[in-house]
Amino acid sequence: MLTADFKIAFASGESTRIVVGPGALAQVPDLCKELGLTGTAGLLCDARLLDLHRPALRALESFGPFIARTVLETKKTLAEVEAICEALSSRGLARDGFVIAAGGGVLTDLGGLAAALYLRGVPWVSLPTTLLAQVDAGLGGKTGANLRSGKNLVGAFHQPRLVVCDPTLLATLPVRERWSGLAEIVKCALIAPEQSAAGEPLLERCERDLEKAAAGDPGALGPLIEASVRIKARLVAADEREGGQRAFLNFGHTVGHALEAATQYARFTHGEAVALGMRGAIFLSHAQGLLTPAEAARALALVMRLRVEPDRRLERDQLNAALEALGRDKKVRAGKVRFVLLEGLGKPRLQEVEPALCAQAVAAALS
Ligand code: GLY
Repeated sequence: MLTADFKIAFASGESTRIVVGPGALAQVPDLCKELGLTGTAGLLCDARLLDLHRPALRALESFGPFIARTVLETKKTLAEVEAICEALSSRGLARDGFVIAAGGGVLTDLGGLAAALYLRGVPWVSLPTTLLAQVDAGLGGKTGANLRSGKNLVGAFHQPRLVVCDPTLLATLPVRERWSGLAEIVKCALIAPEQSAAGEPLLERCERDLEKAAAGDPGALGPLIEASVRIKARLVAADEREGGQRAFLNFGHTVGHALEAATQYARFTHGEAVALGMRGAIFLSHAQGLLTPAEAARALALVMRLRVEPDRRLERDQLNAALEALGRDKKVRAGKVRFVLLEGLGKPRLQEVEPALCAQAVAAALS
């Protein structure tokens, strides 16, 4: 049973159909036909997923053999994109062909970038299989690879024609990975007053069901995924290239990215870093008089429930590295760092913050 099936249209004329629901993966061949994707498919798949979910992936076998890739953040490189393009070429993919990318955020980012570059661009289908990718990386068309000097420093906006999120794949996800995805869901709950399909605000659902969702309960996870996907889709449709409100999706990410960089991307999962970053952003929102004490306390109480496994204490040089990373942030203007803050629950805004307050936000994130 599908829980969501809708289309987002972009000013460029492109559009993405988004389908969410348990068992949705089985419908991918029909959905592709409906969208006119009938040429040869390059079927990229995370090798671990093939081991874990062969039966669920069987429907995809009609597209031909899998191109199995072992993907890791350290292999999110242009060399990997080249290897994928070579594999597409040996499959004989022509201009009427398309790419299907099934896996976590690294795989969908690389597959999307390969689709953007191969033959100067072929359509692609995103099948995100981790919670983090289903609610964030797998939709929105930001594709990319890392350079030695930083994450996602090369890439392209290339919207997938179809995104299919099947929550049944999440049962085998390690619990730490589920918590990582839940951080992005809580982020959505705090930046948007959107209703879930059942008519309940996402914030209230998160407050009620967070631990059940972390335990993998499909009845708790499904509506959280659907609501988050709708929130992201709405922001991306309104602002595909992040000239304005798409940036609200970066709530918690300014400090989060700095903490990830300062710990060489090795200590925290992305969601853990975002959970810590949201503590910093809530502190700033309160310090700037934008959130009332009651609102800040409610937001913080939810964010503090997101489990962060590693030790949060940073060595002095790591703290300095985090502050330096904030100073190098793409969002620095005239010495001030641009944050997404909340001027109410569900009401994000962009605000420049003084360096001294930034240091306090990092301290608040780690306290
Ligand atoms: N991950 C944030 C975005 O897609 O804009």
